[in-house]
Amino acid sequence: MSAPEPAPSALSMSPIPLIEGAAIDGMAAYRALVDEARRDPEAFWARLAREHLDWKQPFTRTLDSSHAPFFKWFDDGLLNASYNCLDRHLENGGASRTAIVFEADGGELTTLTYGELHARVCRVANALRARGVRRGDRVMIYLPMSIEGVVAMQACARIGAPHSVVFGGFSAKSLHERMADVGACVLITADEQVRGGRHLPLKTIADEALAMGCGDTVHTVIVYRRTGGAIPWHAGRDVWLHELEATQSATCEPEWVDAEHPLFILYTSGSTGTPKGVQHSTGGYLLWAALTMKWTFDIRASDVFWCTADIGWITGHSYICYGPTAAGATQMIFEGVPTWPNAGRFWQMIERHKVSIFYTAPTAIRSLMKAAQADPDVHPARYDLGSLRLLGTVGEPINPEAWRWFAAQVGGGRCPVLDTFWQTETGGHMIAPLPGVTPLVPGSCTLPLPGIEAAIVDETGRDVPDGHGGLLVIKRPWPSMLRTVWGNPARYRAGYFPEELGGKLYLAGDGAIRDSESGYFTITGRVDDVLNVSGHRMGTAEIESALAAHPQVAEAAVVGRPDATTGEAIVAFVVLKGPCPLDGDAQRVADELRTWIGREIGPIAKPREIRFGEAMPKTRSGKIVRRLLRSVAKGEAIEQDTSTVENPAVIAQFSKAA
Ligand code: WT7
Repeated sequence: MSAPEPAPSALSMSPIPLIEGAAIDGMAAYRALVDEARRDPEAFWARLAREHLDWKQPFTRTLDSSHAPFFKWFDDGLLNASYNCLDRHLENGGASRTAIVFEADGGELTTLTYGELHARVCRVANALRARGVRRGDRVMIYLPMSIEGVVAMQACARIGAPHSVVFGGFSAKSLHERMADVGACVLITADEQVRGGRHLPLKTIADEALAMGCGDTVHTVIVYRRTGGAIPWHAGRDVWLHELEATQSATCEPEWVDAEHPLFILYTSGSTGTPKGVQHSTGGYLLWAALTMKWTFDIRASDVFWCTADIGWITGHSYICYGPTAAGATQMIFEGVPTWPNAGRFWQMIERHKVSIFYTAPTAIRSLMKAAQADPDVHPARYDLGSLRLLGTVGEPINPEAWRWFAAQVGGGRCPVLDTFWQTETGGHMIAPLPGVTPLVPGSCTLPLPGIEAAIVDETGRDVPDGHGGLLVIKRPWPSMLRTVWGNPARYRAGYFPEELGGKLYLAGDGAIRDSESGYFTITGRVDDVLNVSGHRMGTAEIESALAAHPQVAEAAVVGRPDATTGEAIVAFVVLKGPCPLDGDAQRVADELRTWIGREIGPIAKPREIRFGEAMPKTRSGKIVRRLLRSVAKGEAIEQDTSTVENPAVIAQFSKAA
């Protein structure tokens, strides 16, 4: 967990130029919305839902709290997400507006208008229906960053089939577990994905996942041909996406679903157990995706919006697939990685496509800053970034140094940096500055958006005074909140509305501190056993059980260590069944364990460091002393009290990484 930044003070705030005609065009307008939401939350949300979404049948009920914390929003209204993202933009010349500019790993471009995107979505939606997919059936998506990824998601939305996207960096086993949990009937994947000049198999991994036992439920595998590379093929089950599209009509009547109908299920890591399927609704989720595009990003017809996230994460759902399209915006989608062919790729793309709003992760900023400092050729100053007007960050705390570099070197001192705090569970931005309105403080996500009742409480759920750290909670339900954990309502209730806090507060899982003068929030990092590595969320328990499943491993403990580039790095402490390995042997076993984790979870979960010892440091009651392991991982001298540790001598063994 990174050290808390000092709370922002009014003095360090930088004023920014007012943006003419923004959706929220000044502090007074912001305050007015906050007040409107406080006075009558239901009327506030109802007004916004009527103004920002097209309804087939208007809702008459705004919020149903009768089964709290299982809230329902706009639940007797009927709508379709894909209709709201596509069809409603097609009139008055809208069909010829550019929806997506796709840049492939190698730089090739594909441009799609709203009319073309609509036609492709309809064809795929018809194809899914032709393969028997009906409203409520789940479709798994395991695709690279592509137009096809967005088309597949929107096609599912069109026929009311909730999708579940799995990031391409997850292993066959992870894909299998998610596919089995969600009970998918169709899998949409690609032959290969291309990143950084390398071809990576997706279909082969997907087949491995299916062979692990989803063969009964998954009757169809749709394959997008990205590279034409050789892949295994199961006749009857496997079908090419382009062949399906060619046989289908370019129009498709949307499935009108009630607002509570699940739009998607996205798996994310928690502090315990297996990943949980975060279930989002159609109406409430889409409202917030559309609205935050306007409020936070001030999206305009003249903008070129670029969010660098992957569709496998919530950021790619809300700010690639749904938000920009719901707003009728033009966006960039990028297949590759920021460092290939060199670390100037992002800047080159901003110049090439005249990107005006650029939304990325602190980890990317830190690594590109390092690269630019080492090599002037990949410095943003080498590129014309004059098209930029807004910058945003998401996924992890941003350190003031990286924030300032981003603002000055990329934003040229003209562009507000919007540090947006939110989570898979919240559906969209929760605490974020408004461009041109909120004075900025590097390292602070500033103020909650109107309607979001964020607060900081202690372990018993009582408000803590400003300036004191505590647990970040949300006090009132909001439309885009998760509805449940798929198949596990008990886990939803216990995990997000814990009894210890009184059962009514949404617990984010992050620590935060609020400045007494400005009211600004600063997020201090997770308070549970969830790590944030390069903005990717990982449960320590998940990595530990994967390690423990290795035949040679007796026991494993995983902690995070602060890292200047990736935020946190994974450090694993391992006790083998045999003797503690020495030097070269330790290296070999560590490599083997890393490969193992790559297969059990995915390359993104591979520990940076693995340390071996003869036993875990434990208390007399047998609990692993994690605070000691965290210190050891940081390389700190152990000055803490070890009197409660039964076997303090083992700590020294762990002092060296393999
Ligand atoms: C966790 C959620 C939100 C989309 C990407 C991550 C951390 C997220 C910030 C921020 C500090 C942040 C939190 C949060 N986080 N944004 N602006 N400042 N921390 O979604 O995988 O659900 O992870 O990411 O720890 O709980 P996620």
